[in-house]
Amino acid sequence: MEDKKQVFDTLMKEIDMILEGPGKIMPKMQAICQLLKDRVPYYDWVGFYLGDDSTRMLELGPFAGEPTVHVKIPFGSGICGQAAERKEPFTVQDVSQELNYLSCSVLVKAEIVVPLFKDGKIRGELDIDSHTRGPFTDEDRRFLEQVCVALGPRL
Ligand code: SME
Repeated sequence: MEDKKQVFDTLMKEIDMILEGPGKIMPKMQAICQLLKDRVPYYDWVGFYLGDDSTRMLELGPFAGEPTVHVKIPFGSGICGQAAERKEPFTVQDVSQELNYLSCSVLVKAEIVVPLFKDGKIRGELDIDSHTRGPFTDEDRRFLEQVCVALGPRL
């Protein structure tokens, strides 16, 4: 990929435009998933899970990529559930090394999950799977955190 920072800066502007434009939040989240999947070559599945501390259950929201069997994930379970429990981004560069992992596809090699907060409380997360091993850098994490900071308060 050409300069990551440049690609992420451009994408962030487009995401801000989507969020500030007209329409409901779910179609906007769908558009963000599609945008990220289409424009970052190693983002092979991009989706949102929604959930909070009252139910401690994540439910699949808008996503782009192959359908997954993991439509409900308890806090603590898998990479998604661990990120929800820790309330911190969680990057796994090689999923074969992670014991607490829920596989969606044998093609997936790496995963990054970034929580979404509203009013200081967890409301869900952004989850990205990659078919490339070790693709995520601090730039990815910072960019995805920026996306979640822009989106979370609108949930
Ligand atoms: N791999 C995730 C499950 C969700 S899918 O990646 C879409 C996990 O371990 O939590």
